[in-house]
Amino acid sequence: MSTTISVIGVGYLGAVHAASMAELGHDVIGLDVDADRVAALNDGRAPFHEPGFEQILRRGLQADRLRFTTDYADLADVEVHFLGLGTPQRTDGNGADLSYLRAAADSLREVLPARGGAPTLVVGKSTVPVGTARTLAEQLGAVQGVHLIWNPEFLREGFAVKDTLAPDRLVYGVADPEDHEATEAAAGRLDAVYAQILERGTTRLVMGFEAAELVKASANAFLATKISFINAISEICEATGADVTDVARAIGMDDRIGPKFLRAGVGFGGGCLPKDIRAFMASAEDLGVGESLAFLREVDAINGRRRTRVVELAVELLGAETTSGLRGRRITVLGAAFKPDSDDVRDSPALEVACRLREAGAQVRITDPEALAGAARRAPGLETEQDTDQALRGAELVLLLTEWGQYKELDPARTRELVEVPRIIDGRNVLEPRQWREAGWEFRALGRP
Ligand code: UDX
Repeated sequence: MSTTISVIGVGYLGAVHAASMAELGHDVIGLDVDADRVAALNDGRAPFHEPGFEQILRRGLQADRLRFTTDYADLADVEVHFLGLGTPQRTDGNGADLSYLRAAADSLREVLPARGGAPTLVVGKSTVPVGTARTLAEQLGAVQGVHLIWNPEFLREGFAVKDTLAPDRLVYGVADPEDHEATEAAAGRLDAVYAQILERGTTRLVMGFEAAELVKASANAFLATKISFINAISEICEATGADVTDVARAIGMDDRIGPKFLRAGVGFGGGCLPKDIRAFMASAEDLGVGESLAFLREVDAINGRRRTRVVELAVELLGAETTSGLRGRRITVLGAAFKPDSDDVRDSPALEVACRLREAGAQVRITDPEALAGAARRAPGLETEQDTDQALRGAELVLLLTEWGQYKELDPARTRELVEVPRIIDGRNVLEPRQWREAGWEFRALGRP
């Protein structure tokens, strides 16, 4: 059975969600205040790089099951509204900026009463500080017969379509899980939207609003902690001559620990983990339990130190005493995106390291298969080169900072022909040190002897 759905806020999360819901056979209308984005999506053009997204976007548009608008009046007949708005870090602190979400809830309230009949369901997907759902429920609850479910999204960039259509679990946060009648009425309607996902045996967990909000914040905090944990061990490895990849591999075989998210390197970036752990700390402070999450400050600090470490290694490898010795040196940075298979440069370790080296006076050239436009917008003046070979030509030092497949497969002998001096820092621990050293490279990595 198809449902009429709106997705309010079609940034990364919202656009993927809208197209995925159309893929499930629903009638979907996406809304955003950004008219250019709406026009691009209506034309079948993806505003970001995400494998598989453009195909399902076009399929939805062609089947007339998907369209985008800037006008809330177009949402009057919708049965289920999803809130996919961004919650960026506030400019005046670490907390989350909820202004987009609040403004959307206000605009939505205006159109809600227009629909008679069955109650309207509003589903929150944005990452929010604990307590937000209850406040929104009050704001929207003033309208008769509106139900709110908090249904956090766990998608990863690069796997966003798969993560949306085949999630590990579905979490439904409701106002009062003990009120079975109200809960089942609202949850049943969301079940209908996700019927195909649930039929495949996906677990759906019903809990209170606060727990649902915390599931999302805790999951991201845990992932960030796991990465910083192995990066802290990487610092110990550097002090002792141990190889962090040996340590990670061996501890990851304990299935209580698990092998994922134990890749040591230049650390985490992107639009989620860094801002989400800061927002989580700010939210704990507001709740008067700041100490509980004080360790996340350390997680953030370890992550920042890895970027500094790459700069120090560059200074060392180039035989300079301090960063001022980098002046005029030709450095090629492989990768600008915060991770491979993404064009996202938000809080990207690669881009930050490139910028720091350039600020120190080095001649930095950066290359990336997808993220150069974003890099040029964020760091105008940074020399960009699309072609990997061209980017490598004449370099005195190469830094691999985003592990795109094509960089992992670089042939050391062939690459040596391109550069001026064969020196490389593997900031993601994806190259085989012996192979590179045998080909005559001075090779350094993070957390490896
Ligand atoms: C993350 C969460 O994984 C996702 O569940 C949530 O919904 C949004 O935030 P994403 O930001 O897309 O997703 O990226 P992710 O794949 O988690 O990687 C985050 C960062 O950690 C990247 O910069 C990546 O390079 C880094 N990372 C990841 C490591 O440094 N080591 C690892 O072992 C894993």
